[in-house]
Amino acid sequence: MDNVRIGVIGLGNMGSAHVGYLSNGDVPDAELTAICDADAGQLARGRQAAGERVAAFEQPDALFASGLVDAVVIATPHYLHPPLAIQAFEHGLHVMSEKPAGVYTKQVRAMNVAAEKSGRVFGLMFNQRTLGQHQKLKELVDSGELGELRRTNYIVTSWFRAQSYYDSGGWRATWAGEGGGVLANQCPHNLDLWQWICGMPARIRAFCGFGKYHNIEVDDDVTAYAEYANGATGVFITTTGEAPGTNRFEITGDNGKVVLEEGKITFWRNRTPANVFNREWKAGFGSPECWKCDIPFPSGGEEHRGILKSWVAAMLGGTPLLAPGVEGIRGVELSNAMLLSTWIDDWVSIPVDEDLYYEKLQERIRQSTIQKEKGENKTLSVDGTF
Ligand SMILES: NC(=O)c1ccc[n+]([C@@H]2O[C@H](COP(=O)([O-])OP(=O)(O)OC[C@H]3O[C@@H](n4cnc5c(N)ncnc54)[C@H](O)[C@@H]3O)[C@@H](O)[C@H]2O)c1
Repeated sequence: MDNVRIGVIGLGNMGSAHVGYLSNGDVPDAELTAICDADAGQLARGRQAAGERVAAFEQPDALFASGLVDAVVIATPHYLHPPLAIQAFEHGLHVMSEKPAGVYTKQVRAMNVAAEKSGRVFGLMFNQRTLGQHQKLKELVDSGELGELRRTNYIVTSWFRAQSYYDSGGWRATWAGEGGGVLANQCPHNLDLWQWICGMPARIRAFCGFGKYHNIEVDDDVTAYAEYANGATGVFITTTGEAPGTNRFEITGDNGKVVLEEGKITFWRNRTPANVFNREWKAGFGSPECWKCDIPFPSGGEEHRGILKSWVAAMLGGTPLLAPGVEGIRGVELSNAMLLSTWIDDWVSIPVDEDLYYEKLQERIRQSTIQKEKGENKTLSVDGTF
């Protein structure tokens, strides 16, 4: 294979963006050959954007069986990512799933098993991993520059959404349709970065607000406290209800503190590691000498195109993926842990009790009283978000 034939499933806000840049030829060695959407209006718009040469399907089954694609990008509502990916793997296709990997870990685990069994290339659309600022933060931690991690603080309250956003899709912001709110929709990126850079915590205690700022039943406000196996602690705060929001990622280790905020990375570097100073300093008061450094990094990143390029290169040349699909379960694990901790008003260890989480989610679905108009989906521009 020297060219990958790609099908895009789900042609809403995000799927139509994938169709746009694939049609422009922005991903080398990749050709858009098929599109699919269960909604006739969306499919018609997709056909117009992709052109007549691209085959159009109303059902994913027909696309999978068409023989016209080697690989599929899944950009449907979250619940459908695992079942569609599993079907695609069973047809011998490579898969790129939109974030989140799924709504609950049990379905994501089944998808990971199917991926491994198929031997196909499985990627997750964690486009923020392509950004220079995030790669640099990861490098600072992985290289040991920060020393052993002591504290992580991620405040990401810059995901403001108006009520009209939640009203724009029949599936949005319900337990049955979306399976969550800010944690399932906006934060998969941040939860992934948090774990990609700092690792997974051992347990979580969280406090979520449901419909605190919007007329919705799912989470739109979250404060979570995390503990790591080495005794480090972390805080993760998010909401879609605050403006102006903050996006500040602060990581402290023995060797200092690094902060990513407003597109700048600042490193306060201890000349003597805090743990060593603590042990050796005999004068009581005092703290390590500290140098404030601006850390350079390549600006921007290729975002969604970059993730697809890495996926296509993995299919054609066996190179490692920037965002392997099997890692998608970690962000879902964190999100499930935060919701479960709120529901049971207690600590939740990681990995979460999958059966208990599933049972509690089903309770929310059964108790739901939100009525949404079925079938009324508006496509919104995703420019300026992610
Ligand atoms: N990576 C990113 O930056 C990013 C940005 C936005 C959305 N997303 C993700 O993309 C996914 C879709 O979000 P959206 O905002 O595009 O939603 P959307 O509602 O605009 O689009 C979803 C589309 O899927 C179609 N669909 C539903 N069920 C289907 C089925 N069984 N078969 C085929 N098509 C089906 C719908 O008709 C709709 O056109 C979500 O999981 C979301 O988290 C990712």
